[in-house]
Amino acid sequence: MTLRDNVTLQPLTTFGIRATARWFASFASVDELQELLALARERRLDTLILGGGSNILFTTDFEGLVLRNEIAGIDVVSEDEDHVLVRAGAGESWHGFVQYCLRNNLGGAENLSLIPGSVGASPMQNIGAYGVEIKDIFHELEAVPRTGGAPRKFSADECRFGYRESVFKNTYRNQYVIASVTYRLHRKPVLNTSYGAITQELAAMGVTTPSIHDVSEAVIRIRTSKLPDWHEVGNAGSFFKNPQVSIEKFESLKESYPSIVGYPQGEGRKIAAGWLIEQCGWKGFREGDAGCYPKQALVLVNYGMATGKHIFDLSERIIASVREKFGVELEREVNVI
Ligand code: FAD
Ligand code: EPU
Repeated sequence: MTLRDNVTLQPLTTFGIRATARWFASFASVDELQELLALARERRLDTLILGGGSNILFTTDFEGLVLRNEIAGIDVVSEDEDHVLVRAGAGESWHGFVQYCLRNNLGGAENLSLIPGSVGASPMQNIGAYGVEIKDIFHELEAVPRTGGAPRKFSADECRFGYRESVFKNTYRNQYVIASVTYRLHRKPVLNTSYGAITQELAAMGVTTPSIHDVSEAVIRIRTSKLPDWHEVGNAGSFFKNPQVSIEKFESLKESYPSIVGYPQGEGRKIAAGWLIEQCGWKGFREGDAGCYPKQALVLVNYGMATGKHIFDLSERIIASVREKFGVELEREVNVI
């Protein structure tokens, strides 16, 4: 647990943007984390928690202390005939955890295969893909208050999960560091293949009675066919959330744009932001090294030397053009620093 100064963050984020942390340290236990938080309070340094850096865009250097989560360990907490509670350290890789579930024939996480990042960030925005969200397998988490004091447990209700939302993104923003997450997995998996693309991919794979391994493989194939590999092209997945609008707003848009893509969501409709952005002509756009991915308009990319400000400015222009053409407000999913 050493404090380093002027550490480059470029290799620690999937956007691959150049930025520096004035101070940097890793922690591998709750004790180490508490020591570092105390040190930051004593020196009046802002802190930023970094997991896999796959949902973050640095537009500037960070003048405080970046704390990289390396708390490891995956353990069974309890089990009965139907369920197994598994606790994972927040610094474990999310996909590594999915692979643990697959190896042990535990169902529930397979649709979330190949999402980059750490276990600890999974509840932050209630990660989701292909018809499943983390809230569907979440049991509880343990978090350390940044102001000092003992770790606190949060139940699913207390996390107030929503679409790409949790209490840690609003009410308790920057107040807690998630140290471990406990998931509730199924011994007798109930497969979720409701997302059309999964059914098609399973058929293409020649699978008629799928297992969790097949669903995982189908999801991996779909994801690798449309999302850029961040090792090659910097990105942070969907840059924006899919916006929610009222049924009335959706119907009036549908009259003018019959091909608009939308899904029922609570009282209203969720519109595919990728469709809105593509209609505004941004898909495949590139200016310098900042661009909009040619196969998925919702993904902004760094082709090499883009700065965080380039990417951010592009996102501002996209938001403005979607607002002007459709009267719909896009919200960023990525955490901008
Ligand atoms: P980071 O980027 O390191 O951090 C994200 C935010 O959480 C920051 O504000 C950080 O300060 C905070 N944070 C991180 N860890 C902790 C902690 N332990 N305690 C408190 N705060 C913390 N997301 C989806 O939901 N679905 C997808 O399908 C999906 N696909 C993606 C595909 C690609 C190619 C990429 C690059 C990203 C994708 N994402 C997706 C986004 C991203 O992978 C997830 O949001 C992931 O959970 C981020 O994890 P991370 O550890 O990298 O978080
Ligand atoms: N679409 C277009 N043009 C595009 C992209 C998409 O028209 O360029 C339309 C298509 O009609 C497509 C629909 O949008 O059928 C939905 O596209 P896709 O299935 O790729 O999903 P998405 O809504 O763009 C969301 C999540 C992804 C998640 C996938 C799969 C958000 C913001 N994004 O993307 O999550 O992997 O569904 O479930 O909800 C992430 O959060 O980083 C992320 C990648």
